[in-house]
Formats: sequence, structure tokens, C-alpha cells
Amino acid sequence: MSEELEIELPILQGKPSPFPVPGGCYALTVNEVEHYSATLFRFRVTRPRQFRFRSGEFAMIGLPNAEKPVFRAYSVASPAWDEELEFYSIKVPDGPLTEHLQKIQPGDTVLMRKKATGTLVNDALLPGKRLWMFSTGTGIAPFASLIRDPETYDKFEQVILTHGCRTREELKYGEDLVARLREDPLVGELVRDNLLHYTTVTREDFIRQGRLTDLIVSGKLFDDLGLPRMSPEEDRAMICGSMAMLKDTKELCLSHGLTEGANNKPSQFVVERAFVD
Ligand SMILES: Cc1cc2nc3c(=O)[nH]c(=O)nc-3n(C[C@H](O)[C@H](O)[C@H](O)COP(=O)(O)OP(=O)(O)OC[C@H]3O[C@@H](n4cnc5c(N)ncnc54)[C@H](O)[C@@H]3O)c2cc1C
Ligand SMILES: NC(=O)c1ccc[n+]([C@@H]2O[C@H](COP(=O)([O-])OP(=O)(O)OC[C@H]3O[C@@H](n4cnc5c(N)ncnc54)[C@H](OP(=O)(O)O)[C@@H]3O)[C@@H](O)[C@H]2O)c1
Repeated sequence: MSEELEIELPILQGKPSPFPVPGGCYALTVNEVEHYSATLFRFRVTRPRQFRFRSGEFAMIGLPNAEKPVFRAYSVASPAWDEELEFYSIKVPDGPLTEHLQKIQPGDTVLMRKKATGTLVNDALLPGKRLWMFSTGTGIAPFASLIRDPETYDKFEQVILTHGCRTREELKYGEDLVARLREDPLVGELVRDNLLHYTTVTREDFIRQGRLTDLIVSGKLFDDLGLPRMSPEEDRAMICGSMAMLKDTKELCLSHGLTEGANNKPSQFVVERAFVD
């Protein structure tokens, strides 16, 4: 009953929206919003019972604020088993979607197209000893899903979540998440034993500084973690960031002898854009 009401009357900033929910979309109710900075926030919404996805996939998100709303790709940051859906978002000044999305509050409606897709899924990789997750900025979102999925730890003995940002403030979402997961009843033990979290910033002082790509080239990343350089025999990688970061990190994976995989052809590393340019 409440789901039907919601579909007829989407809510925007606490008030009914005059625009109906477009066909082919779910109307999701916002349960929680947390702001990290002037440019970053996360939110959690109700999950429709029929919505199926694999941890690491993305879906198209919009708001009921126009006859034909703007939709943008968003990685689902929560794992496939979760009863709610979580998203981690940038706030782009004057961004067609995020200038409005950043104002959502509990009770509001977010639209989501019904199909999820993506390449950052466990199925696209061959089994291996270690899984490297290379992320910059909001590119951590698909990995926030995968590090909460026990399947990831079934497939890999060790999971290394790397996150490079401009500032320390931008690391907070990942830091809070990993700290919470260490205490989680379902995956806490797996996370404590098998997940390494490696953070670095590029535009202010921090205990670790520099681009992930530079830290790979110098070998500092591996030395800091006490791990060997990547090899096709033992290592698998997933990459999510800007186009420039994808290009540079992909080249480094290739130079370490790893080959790129896809959903229909699992191999040793996979890439996905965290935004369009
Ligand atoms: C496969 C895929 C998955 C994505 N997953 C996420 C996600 O989980 N979280 C998320 O915040 N965004 C994600 N994005 C980006 C997202 O689709 C939108 O671009 C973003 O929400 C901004 O929308 P907008 O309409 O406000 O501005 P847009 O018109 O889409 O973007 C304006 C400009 O802002 C910059 N920008 C856009 N998104 C980002 C970003 N995430 N980080 C840094 N700069 C950005 C770019 O320079 C872009 O040209 C994803 C994009 C792709 C292709
Ligand atoms: N994040 C913000 O505070 C902010 C604020 C306003 C506007 N924006 C706009 O949003 C867009 C994206 O910003 P963002 O900070 O989220 O993402 P970003 O520019 O991709 O930077 C995120 C991190 O990735 C690093 N990086 C960039 N290119 C790389 C590469 N080729 N290989 C490896 N690492 C790389 C950056 O290092 P470097 O610092 O060395 O580039 C930074 O540490 C930009 O167009 C920016 O103008 C961002």
C-alpha cells in the first residue's frame, strides 16, 4: 500500500512532487543522508524487493523533479545482500543532477532505473591470491560494495583497498566504512584478517602522499604493505577513477603482465570510469 502511494506521489525536499515516476524506474525512499564535506556525501535508500544486482555494479539514478529527469550512473556502494541501497556521491557545483541530489533528506524519493550493470564484479576476474582495488575520489564506491561481500573473501585470500584523494577529508567515507566493517557481525572477522586499506593524498600533508600510480612505479605501495610487486600468477586488480587515472593504472597493470578481463571473458584486471571526463 505504502509503495503504491509512493509511486503516485514522489517526495522532493519533504513535499509532493508534481512529476510522476517515469516508466521503467523504481521510486526509492531516502532513509539516511550523511555529508562529509562541501563536495561529498552518502545516502541510503529503501531497496525494492525485485531489484537484483551483483556487488560492484552501477545503476542509473535521478530525481522526480522534471517530466524527463536527468539520470546519471551511480555505483551501488552497498553489497548485494543488504536490505537497503547505499550511494556515495560527489556534489558538482551546477551539476545537472548533483546540485539537486545534494539537498535530499530522509523521506524524499530518488528514482532508479531497474537494471544494474558493470565490469567491477568478481565474475569478471579469474581466481587469484590477492585482489587489488585501485580507486581515486568517488571511485571507491564500487569497492565499498565489494569489501562488504563475503564472496570477495571466498575468492581472494587478501583484498587491498587503495584510495587516493586530493585531501584527507576526502578519505573519510572509506576510513569510516572500514572501521565499521571491522566490527561487523557478518564480515568483521574476514575484514580484520584479510582486508588491507591503503590511503594517500596529493594536495596536502599526510602520512602517505602522492598518486597511487607513482607509488606503484616507485614500489613504495608494495614496500609499505610488505607485499611483492604484482604478478599475473598471484594478483588481480580492479580500477575505478577518472579517465586519466584509468589509463595510467591500466598501463601499469599491463606492464606487470596482467591482462584485461570482462564479464564474458574473465581475466586478471578490470576497469570502470568513476565519472565521464
Ligand atoms: C559507470 C559510472 C559510475 C559512476 N558512479 C558514481 C558514483 O558512485 N558516485 C558519484 O558521485 N558519481 C558517479 N559517477 C558520476 C555520475 O554519473 C555523475 O557524473 C555525477 O553524479 C555528477 O552528475 P551531475 O549531473 O551533477 O554533473 P555531470 O554533468 O555528470 O558532471 C559534471 C562534471 O563534474 C565532474 N564529475 C562528475 N562526477 C564526478 C565524480 N564522481 N567525481 C569527480 N568529478 C566528477 C566531471 O568533470 C564532469 O564533467 C559515475 C559515472 C559513471 C560513468
Ligand atoms: N575533489 C575536490 O575537492 C574538487 C573540488 C572542486 C572541483 N573538483 C572537480 O572534480 C573533478 C574531479 O575531482 P576529484 O578530486 O574527485 O578527482 P581527481 O581529479 O581524479 O583526483 C582524485 C585523486 O586522483 C589523483 N589523480 C588524478 N589523475 C590521476 C592519474 N592519472 N593517476 C593516478 N592518480 C590520479 C589526484 O591527484 P592530483 O591531485 O595529483 O591530481 C587525486 O589525488 C575535477 O575536474 C575537479 O576540477 C573537485
